Amino acid sequence: MRILLLGSGGREHALAWKIAQSPRVEKLYIAPGNAGTGSVGVNVPIRVTDFEAIKTFVLEHEVNMVVVGPEDPLVNGIYDFFLGDRFLQDIPVIGPSKEGALLEGSKEFAKEFMKRHEIPTARYMSVNKDNLEEGYAFLEGLEATYVLKADGLCAGKGVLILHSLEEAKTQLSEMLCGKFGDASQTVVIEEFLSGIECSVFVMTDGSYFKVLPVAKDYKRIGEGDTGLNTGGMGSVTPVPFADEIFMEKVENCIIRPTIDGMREEGIVYKGFIFLGLISVQGDPMVIEYNVRMGDPETESVMLRIKSDLVDLLEGITKEELDSYVLEVDPRAAACVMLVSGGYPEAYEKGFPITGFNLVETTGSILFHAGTTVKEGRIVTDGGRVLAVCSYGDTREEALRKSYEAADKIDFEKKYYRRDIGFDL
Ligand code: AMP
Ligand code: GLY
Repeated sequence: MRILLLGSGGREHALAWKIAQSPRVEKLYIAPGNAGTGSVGVNVPIRVTDFEAIKTFVLEHEVNMVVVGPEDPLVNGIYDFFLGDRFLQDIPVIGPSKEGALLEGSKEFAKEFMKRHEIPTARYMSVNKDNLEEGYAFLEGLEATYVLKADGLCAGKGVLILHSLEEAKTQLSEMLCGKFGDASQTVVIEEFLSGIECSVFVMTDGSYFKVLPVAKDYKRIGEGDTGLNTGGMGSVTPVPFADEIFMEKVENCIIRPTIDGMREEGIVYKGFIFLGLISVQGDPMVIEYNVRMGDPETESVMLRIKSDLVDLLEGITKEELDSYVLEVDPRAAACVMLVSGGYPEAYEKGFPITGFNLVETTGSILFHAGTTVKEGRIVTDGGRVLAVCSYGDTREEALRKSYEAADKIDFEKKYYRRDIGFDL
């Protein structure tokens, strides 16, 4: 099989690493990839949203499956682009249709969908310029804290958590006036939920599904979950509070109604569903849907999938996922992200990275996030640079190994959080 994987982050290196282990893969291409994906497949300099260039490449290289890492191509309709092209229509794309991708592309759509299908989520109101006064009234009826979400994609920056009513009203008005451009022409106001979060990943063929190992990610830059939000500073799996009872509720109250709801509404969804969940006194509620795998959760989750991932992907495309087995490694896995000093604000790039050879013998696995090759050396090329991942009999052991390996890797202004998993 010849597979094209779209994306260039740590998530894609982890997916590429897992896909490349399948004896069924004849050729793995990654567009555009990074210095790490180049070691398990062939990087191709194509942007993930350049559908025409993707088409040309897929046809020239006789690709027979496309796996989509990030949300942008899905929200832009790559699934429908393939289906609507007579040369591409038989080549499966792992990911939802454009309409299905609205689960991530529009917070308003996601909230309405959950309401229609009685999926537990925070109470909300959707506001635009025409009903701003009603929006203020809704805010007044809530107790502090206030949650405002830009409807559209904002690269993870479109959610504001505010502590005073005045501030919430000011921000609501600024968002509607274009604080996040077109993405905040509509804003979802939500009731604030208190609890602990986790990430649940589901593979579905539209009818059947498999639940991948549950993970938890750490988004804030500072230890103790303080400071600015980032793309993710680390992850662990499994998550102790996501026990059998909790997961049964997740399956019955969230996963099944989501997949059945899509099908009943005639929306094609064959790919990954990422449920951002919060446990409110043991009951799962949906914070957000994403239509792709999480980053940096994928980096630890892939370590725990024992089955051939390509078989499972084929199960999705053939709509017979029920006849494939998902075998999970009972060990824990942890991921610690090494980032450029200054991130998520301004930072420098281009620093040589050393110590790869020192990690080789430790059993830890390095997934590249923001790296590139310059004059034959691997250098930093992004805010998040390397995901240091390890197995352990316990979460603590997996984390300890990742920290040992993290200390062996060096680049100027390296930073990482030393408290991943602290709240579990
Ligand atoms: P989202 O982009 O929707 O995942 O929101 C980003 C983060 O904001 C989430 O990971 C939560 O930590 C927080 N958040 C979003 N919605 C709520 C809510 N209704 N109650 C509490 N926290 C929330
Ligand atoms: N780790 C959160 C995300 O990928 O959106």
